[in-house]
Amino acid sequence: MILNLATHRASSSCVLDGASPGSAGLSIRLMDTRDALSVTRLFRKVYGFTYPIRYMYDPVRLSGMIAAGRIRSAVTVTGEERVVGHCALVDRRDGLAAIGMALVDPEYRHSEYNTRMVVLLANEACRGTFSGICSAVMTAQVYAQRAGRHVGFRRVALVVGRISAGRTYDGVSRGRRISVAYGYLRLEDHDEASIYPPRHHREFIEAILRNAGVKRRLSDPRAGASCPHDGDWSAIHVKATPGDDRATIEVHRYCTDTFTRVRRIMRALLARNVEQVVLLLPLSQALTAVATGEFERRGFFFAGVLPRCGIGDALVLQYLNGVSIDYDDILVASEDLAEIKAYVRQHDPGVNSEKHCRRS
Ligand SMILES: CC(C)(COP(=O)(O)OP(=O)(O)OC[C@H]1O[C@@H](n2cnc3c(N)ncnc32)[C@H](O)[C@@H]1OP(=O)(O)O)[C@@H](O)C(=O)NCCC(=O)NCCS
Repeated sequence: MILNLATHRASSSCVLDGASPGSAGLSIRLMDTRDALSVTRLFRKVYGFTYPIRYMYDPVRLSGMIAAGRIRSAVTVTGEERVVGHCALVDRRDGLAAIGMALVDPEYRHSEYNTRMVVLLANEACRGTFSGICSAVMTAQVYAQRAGRHVGFRRVALVVGRISAGRTYDGVSRGRRISVAYGYLRLEDHDEASIYPPRHHREFIEAILRNAGVKRRLSDPRAGASCPHDGDWSAIHVKATPGDDRATIEVHRYCTDTFTRVRRIMRALLARNVEQVVLLLPLSQALTAVATGEFERRGFFFAGVLPRCGIGDALVLQYLNGVSIDYDDILVASEDLAEIKAYVRQHDPGVNSEKHCRRS
């Protein structure tokens, strides 16, 4: 059976171990507004100016966000209060917290500082009213995945080529786009609503949700009502991230114009040389079960599931614009991600057309 893993560690109990104190005079604590300048310097040191979240370079904006509670960060600091590690928890305002923006100064790596910051923030999230925590980690190395595993994150999606080839790590660019693994840590999710997965992905979606401890009733599309819209227009939001040459299209509500509008949006994005697009479809709406196949015929392919993201539980599809993926570059630290990677690869039309070319 797919993704038949041991019972997940995430539970409504919020006791997470592993937050031992730092060594060598370093300590781990929640970030203060006074740390903002030092944090921005660390981002510059590790990423140059290639990190797409721009407030990480702006100490005034960053300290304002910390003061307003819009992000909560953990930092690793030296005895002189220099920040050598950072990780953030962001309230996404949809019942989820997002953990990310993790980095450690190269001189202080491999001493579990990142793991301890993740543990500290997961404990912070447990004190809130979040139903879960989501994460997105790059897959060019396995360290961030391993830190997530410590607190019980389960992998739910793999978006290939999500990070621009221009992003540098410690001054070095990988020269090709990097894939991102999405994780989910269930905290207090008592929703057992119906979802409508497309029949041809149903078994795999069910396995991902079971592995992540997310309970849903999987319904047959035919049992669902017809197009659940309350207006003449689809509700579709687009978010472009020019720094990474990527975009996300969120379908909040279907209508008869959905395919036409997504086609127009795609045309505009591709004209701007966007290389990677994620399409989020609402699993709570019966039309997702039938619309998925239509999007797949137009070049989108399966990436996974994001529980409780901005549009509710979302089916994640992805599209690559002239980018080919070397799946051997995608490093995995867990069995669940290995299975998702194999499934995504199997559905990537780029891989399949390469195979076809090689055969003919
Ligand atoms: C990713 C990063 C934050 C990790 O920081 P870190 O403090 O060195 O990580 P940790 O020491 O907590 O290590 C986490 C896990 O990786 C393992 N690990 C660390 N270095 C390793 C190495 N050289 N070889 C094998 N495993 C290693 C640790 O053993 C630990 O695994 P475990 O939990 O199974 O024991 C750091 O490498 C970094 O800043 N990289 C550049 C920016 C980046 O890639 N950020 C992540 C974006 S998603």
